[in-house]
Amino acid sequence: MSTAAIIVAAGKGLRAGAGTPKQFRPIGGTAMLARTAQIFCDHPEIHHVCIVYPLGQRTRCETLLSSLSKEILYAEGGDTRTASVGEGLAAIAPMAPRKVLIHDGARPFVQAGQISRCIDALDNCDAACPALPLADALKTKDGASVNRSQLLRMQTPQGFLFKKIAAAYQALPVGSTHDDDIAIAKSAGMHIVFFDGDEANFKVTTPADFDHAELFAQSHNAMISVTGQGYDVHRIQAGAAVTLCGIEVPASFSLKGHSDADVGLHAITDAVLGALAAGDIGDHFPPSDPQWKGAPSDIFLAHARDLAAQLGAQIALIDVTLICERPKIGPRRNAMRARIAEILRINKNRVSVKATTTEGLGPMGRGEGIAALASATVLRPL
Ligand code: CTP
Ligand code: MG
Repeated sequence: MSTAAIIVAAGKGLRAGAGTPKQFRPIGGTAMLARTAQIFCDHPEIHHVCIVYPLGQRTRCETLLSSLSKEILYAEGGDTRTASVGEGLAAIAPMAPRKVLIHDGARPFVQAGQISRCIDALDNCDAACPALPLADALKTKDGASVNRSQLLRMQTPQGFLFKKIAAAYQALPVGSTHDDDIAIAKSAGMHIVFFDGDEANFKVTTPADFDHAELFAQSHNAMISVTGQGYDVHRIQAGAAVTLCGIEVPASFSLKGHSDADVGLHAITDAVLGALAAGDIGDHFPPSDPQWKGAPSDIFLAHARDLAAQLGAQIALIDVTLICERPKIGPRRNAMRARIAEILRINKNRVSVKATTTEGLGPMGRGEGIAALASATVLRPL
């Protein structure tokens, strides 16, 4: 049974002041509506997304939202929020979703967790709404105190069983307006559950809210730079080629190892895992496991890359030094950089490959093995 989201963004944004309508104004470089729509499109439990756009602004919205991960349904909004939601409900009716979440396009900081909670709450009620208590003392304009303990601030997404909210909307007198969709659910006698809202999910309403949103987006996007290191050595054995940094290089020997013995990629994998504080290559790919016998080492590095992506981390720079007398690395350096960049899906200018000999000293100098040292600079969410 599917779940749909309706994002209402058809308002005039009068309180936000003149200029570009607020839903199209950038916050941290991205239009507010694009931020909001992306969160719903990326949510695995949302199957359909409908955007309710302002009169005559469909093409503008389509252009703005063309690269999102789900196909979007569009509905033209009305004069009031209630009318706009009504249009959205009509647009998604052919999908016959079981649940629908209705969200303000002007709340671009909604967290995926709030969306999930709203969807889950609907297993036990007709309508679910994130709500927050009031912190400030409340007075009427003539100074009389108001007991705030019985009051709650409503947020969105407000979730509903689609059939019930669609029927409640159909029964509304033409032109009637309501504060929000929970008000309509209440008058239709639906069973409503409130769950904890989130202060971060504020509605961008006034120019001051835009200043706040800008700061919020900056701290939201803040990353710290971390560094991990990796080191690996493989002994030589009889053979005719070695694999270094993903490139096969002819040699008068090969490297001994459980996998393809690519010291370069092993050191880089450990450096990336180190930057994520996620253990080392042996934890993820135990040498005792026969399935890694002769395995190409790019799968180890790709695994570290995917782990980084799951944590929202970006690999900013890889620097690897190969330590050996032979084979000559110089002629293959660029190919190695390109291969590492390809595995990590980053630009080649973010990959450095260096080589050094040890002037004949020590085991590498005597040609008993090849070593590699690597560092990974990674940007991680704060
Ligand atoms: N909304 C809508 N259709 C309307 C009015 C409002 O889709 N006729 C949407 C807004 O675009 C917004 C949400 O409902 O995402 C909440 O409304 P609000 O914050 O009041 O936005 P605006 O009505 O655009 O702003 P204002 O009231 O300041 O004019
Ligand atoms: Mg309004």
